[in-house]
Amino acid sequence: MDKVTVSVPGKLMLLGEHAVVYNHPCLVTAVNQRMRVTVDILDSQEFQFEAPDVKVVGYKKALSELGKGDIPKGAQFVEIAVKNITEKHQLKSGLRITTSSEFSSEFGFGSSSASTVCVVKALSELLDLKLNSKEIFDISYKTVLDIQGKGSGFDVAAAVFGGTLYFITGGKVIEPLKISSLPLIVGYSGIKADTVTLINNVKDRFANDSDRLQEIYSQIEAIVEKAKSFVIAGDWGHVGSLMNENQKLLKELGVSIDKLDNMISGAIEAGAYGAKLSGAGGGDCMVALSPEDKIQSVERAIAKAGGQVLSVKTNAEGVRVE
Ligand code: MEV
Repeated sequence: MDKVTVSVPGKLMLLGEHAVVYNHPCLVTAVNQRMRVTVDILDSQEFQFEAPDVKVVGYKKALSELGKGDIPKGAQFVEIAVKNITEKHQLKSGLRITTSSEFSSEFGFGSSSASTVCVVKALSELLDLKLNSKEIFDISYKTVLDIQGKGSGFDVAAAVFGGTLYFITGGKVIEPLKISSLPLIVGYSGIKADTVTLINNVKDRFANDSDRLQEIYSQIEAIVEKAKSFVIAGDWGHVGSLMNENQKLLKELGVSIDKLDNMISGAIEAGAYGAKLSGAGGGDCMVALSPEDKIQSVERAIAKAGGQVLSVKTNAEGVRVE
């Protein structure tokens, strides 16, 4: 084999963000907009990378230089993933890696972890490493931590396993929930958020009140535990109420913004069971659960608040060779 294409789904956090960074659970669903990566074997001893979606074009270096020097932001995850694999499994030839995504890297659908998982899976195929899903998760999560220093790995798990997952920090628990779909409405705020900055903001905000912060995280954990059974039962009314409770706590963490608040309250006034921000906050997307007959009014309300309704299906398939 001298070429392989792999794809993974994007992700949306349902409940539990921020707490999940600190050993609490969350619920995440994979979405049907996918990231694709093609890896070609080259004759030269070069690493070549093309990611036009994030404006990386014609990037190349010697294999021996992987991980060294200035790496453009859009190339970091892919390059460090290749480096982490080649430290254990020697590469006999160079590689050309090309990524393309059905979703914008601005949405907060997890494009960095998605491209990381794609590359790890693609190299597992090309080098016949026979890595299983947990091994792909572990190498990809290590790569994300090498670069970001922080993060729970829930986005990596969604890319690898797909579906809808109950997940605990670092992959201590990765439990697929047996459901067929979630009637989720997704609104993009138009604002790009930076996860690590938001994680640090929360830390700073509660620097003198760590007791309250721990209490909030415990309350978020209780919400996630309750919601897990309601999601499995398809009881969207109860899941919606729990989303609203989770959103109140996220506001107290200081990670919501006016734009998201307006989209969320608009959705609820228009008849949604519940709505909340999804991910780090500070921008990115909000999600709402709505009765079938209210979907159009909820979507209109999100648009009226300045949001862009994204058409996505949840519970999508995990990593696959195309
Ligand atoms: C970001 O999408 C969600 C956070 O919980 C970070 C993480 O879990 O890695 C804030």
